[in-house]
Amino acid sequence: MLVAQISDTHLITPGGPGRFGDEKLIALEKCIEAINNLDTLPDVVIHTGDLSDNGSSEELQLAKKHLDKLVVPYYVTPGNKDCADKLIEVFTDQLNDVVTGGPITYLVDSLPIKLASLDTTTSLDNRGLLDFKKIAAIDRVLSVHQDDPVIIFSHHPPFNLSSETSPHYEFVSKNSIKLFDELVDRHSQIVALFCGHFHRSIRKNMGLFDANIAPPVCNLIDYSSTKTGPNHIGNFQLHNFGKGYEFTTEVKMISH
Ligand SMILES: [Fe+2]
Repeated sequence: MLVAQISDTHLITPGGPGRFGDEKLIALEKCIEAINNLDTLPDVVIHTGDLSDNGSSEELQLAKKHLDKLVVPYYVTPGNKDCADKLIEVFTDQLNDVVTGGPITYLVDSLPIKLASLDTTTSLDNRGLLDFKKIAAIDRVLSVHQDDPVIIFSHHPPFNLSSETSPHYEFVSKNSIKLFDELVDRHSQIVALFCGHFHRSIRKNMGLFDANIAPPVCNLIDYSSTKTGPNHIGNFQLHNFGKGYEFTTEVKMISH
């Protein structure tokens, strides 16, 4: 199974507040063209959050207008910049099982490897939060097909982001990390974890599976990107799953 991952588009409506509005929109347009023109189309595209920069309905509608041009199915999970309830309103097609006010945690079971969106956001902080309500929601989703392989996709990476002695977490408290670790212990069918938020590319082994943080679509907000030429404006990733559900990742350049 082939999964394309895009992340952190941070779209702004024309004239709206924020940086690089035109560049970020062009990068998304070209990214979608590039995905649609791949020799082998992915089975699905996932957006790992921060679709918008200010969380307005207009920004989310702009994101949807462009994502709808994808010729394959796509799914979204909320980022800290997205207003969760507005995301539910705008992306009704993808999120029809999700109720307003509840976490945007849902299962896609139409693919050989299932997909589970894990909502890590809180309206009170830009960092992530996993509490018992959120964990109960993802536990429910993962318990439906306990024996089938599943990819979890979320915005905030629920693991240590530092290789140095003092760990770094993008969560309100370390309890969220503990709750996620316990979730992983309960569900051995998880084969991958795809996240965004960190604006750079990272891969980390989580024990039985690997986690991947995708860079933002637009180079200008990518802290790890090296521009390889004047036409290189961003990146997306293609994850190719093998027979044992391990995956390899190919970084695809987005060009003018
Ligand atoms: Fe974020």
